[in-house]
Amino acid sequence: MALINWEEKFQVNLNLIDNQHKKLVAILNRLHESMSKGKGGEVLESVIKDLITYTKTHFADEEKLMIENKYSQYDSHFIEHSNFITKVEQVYNDLSAGKIGLSMELMYFLKNWLLNHIMVVDKKFGDFMQTKSCA
Ligand SMILES: [Fe+2]
Ligand SMILES: [Fe+2]
Repeated sequence: MALINWEEKFQVNLNLIDNQHKKLVAILNRLHESMSKGKGGEVLESVIKDLITYTKTHFADEEKLMIENKYSQYDSHFIEHSNFITKVEQVYNDLSAGKIGLSMELMYFLKNWLLNHIMVVDKKFGDFMQTKSCA
């Protein structure tokens, strides 16, 4: 079973962003699947690397859109992004140093962070963009 099934309520109604969120969900599902199948550290490390790389791309695109549109809540949104990157990079480092293993607890942390961020903070930005396009 997939860790996350995409639902309508995750949409923020910006095409580029929604598609990138779907891709992030797909990477998290891949990570969960690899873990469930008992894949070794190297496989897990490479999926987490993909997660970090793609998350950075996505955050950069989202931040660019916020700057271009003079979004007033850019600063707090940016801080959430950079804290998450720091956390996932820490996980990657600990995992590759053999300090931790991948756990369901960690999977739930990633899942909850992503979905909560999408539905609260990104949705707020999506709503802001809707008001702009109607203005
Ligand atoms: Fe965001
Ligand atoms: Fe996002």
